[in-house]
Amino acid sequence: MKVLIVGGGAREHSLVLAAKSAAHVVHCAPGNAGIARDATTHTIKADDVDQLEALCERERFDLVVVGPEAPLVAGLADRLRERGVLVFGPGRAGAQLEGSKAFSKEFMARHGVATAAFRVFDDAAKATEYVQREARAFVVKADGLAAGKGVVVASSVEETIAAIRSMIVDRAFGAAGARIVLEERLSGPEVSLHVLCDGERFAVLGVAQDHKRVGDGDTGPNTGGMGAYGPVPAFDDALLAQTLATIVEPTVRGLARDGLPFRGVLFIGLMIHEGAPFALEYNVRFGDPECAVLMARAQGDVFASLVAVAKGALDPATVVTFEGAAIAVVVASERYPAEPVTGDVIDGLDEAAAVDGVSVLHAGTRERDGAIVTAGGRVLTIVARGQDLRDAASRAYRAVERISIRGAHYRRDIAWRALA
Ligand code: AMP
Ligand code: GLY
Repeated sequence: MKVLIVGGGAREHSLVLAAKSAAHVVHCAPGNAGIARDATTHTIKADDVDQLEALCERERFDLVVVGPEAPLVAGLADRLRERGVLVFGPGRAGAQLEGSKAFSKEFMARHGVATAAFRVFDDAAKATEYVQREARAFVVKADGLAAGKGVVVASSVEETIAAIRSMIVDRAFGAAGARIVLEERLSGPEVSLHVLCDGERFAVLGVAQDHKRVGDGDTGPNTGGMGAYGPVPAFDDALLAQTLATIVEPTVRGLARDGLPFRGVLFIGLMIHEGAPFALEYNVRFGDPECAVLMARAQGDVFASLVAVAKGALDPATVVTFEGAAIAVVVASERYPAEPVTGDVIDGLDEAAAVDGVSVLHAGTRERDGAIVTAGGRVLTIVARGQDLRDAASRAYRAVERISIRGAHYRRDIAWRALA
């Protein structure tokens, strides 16, 4: 097949490598300095719908896979489908599951999906009054897309009220915070469940756990993700069965009942609270860095499954399977996530890639005078396959140590819970 991957991060690089290893012809828009070595890249931003449409007219791809959420929420998949292009990724309507927290929580409630109790507000005074009456802390979520930053897990009434104010009144997340969800606070380990869905049928791809905090031991501010691993030993067959019954099946039935077409991957953020799974959120695309872990563990051609989903002909019996273990470690630039410094030279890329079982995925990189330099907060994702998590971790860190970037940092404890 001739495929186009839309996006330019490590997630897209992992998809590019998966397509390349199955001998597909791979294009990517916009890509990055690393992707440019593995695919034909086009300097078109992931949200430039007009240019992407023109590119598809010109190149006649057999499949387009959209990596990030923003273009899906903006309706890129609908536009391409109207032109007869086969697309992996939901249209605007299905993408609301990620694009609006109020929409997704109401969807979960309507279809009996296990999730925390919640209320939706667009009036700060009413929300504040509610919190004062309840006299306890809530989780405060901006309704719209906020690049993973629009959630405040408050630990007091005062903090809850301050978060309400900052979102609705001060517009800390712009229009995304004009409406908010107040949610019961749960606690427990989180897992990222990925499910292929063609609107009627689904197939579980597997789970990964990501590490959102910047520092070792899960300390410091939240980030886009500092690393991930899979499988997750604590998420056993019994938990998976319970998750299918209380979350995945009602979700897929709900999509059909509501007439929401969904051809893509549902990445459900789960929290295991008092031993039972709850859906924290839906995402309508692969997780980053979770995707790197999934692609590293895939046996066979992932794209055969993605194209079946795009056609609405998913056959759960023939879907790609996942074996072994993988760990992804993100290398971030100096002062990420607060104010990442860019423009530093990256050394050791080839040496890192030479470690057996390792792929070096690029995120924020670009080429300058023949050298590869940092161009974003998350710079590289080093992903390693192994027989088990310990083996994967030792390979990943052997490769990470060969990378040298002034001021860069990474977590040294990815998968620590599973390895303890
Ligand atoms: P979300 O974007 O909804 O997944 O929220 C981002 C992060 O906030 C999650 O990964 C959790 O760590 C945390 N979070 C979200 N909802 C809750 C909740 N109801 N209780 C506790 N923590 C939560
Ligand atoms: N790693 C979490 C996400 O992609 O949203």
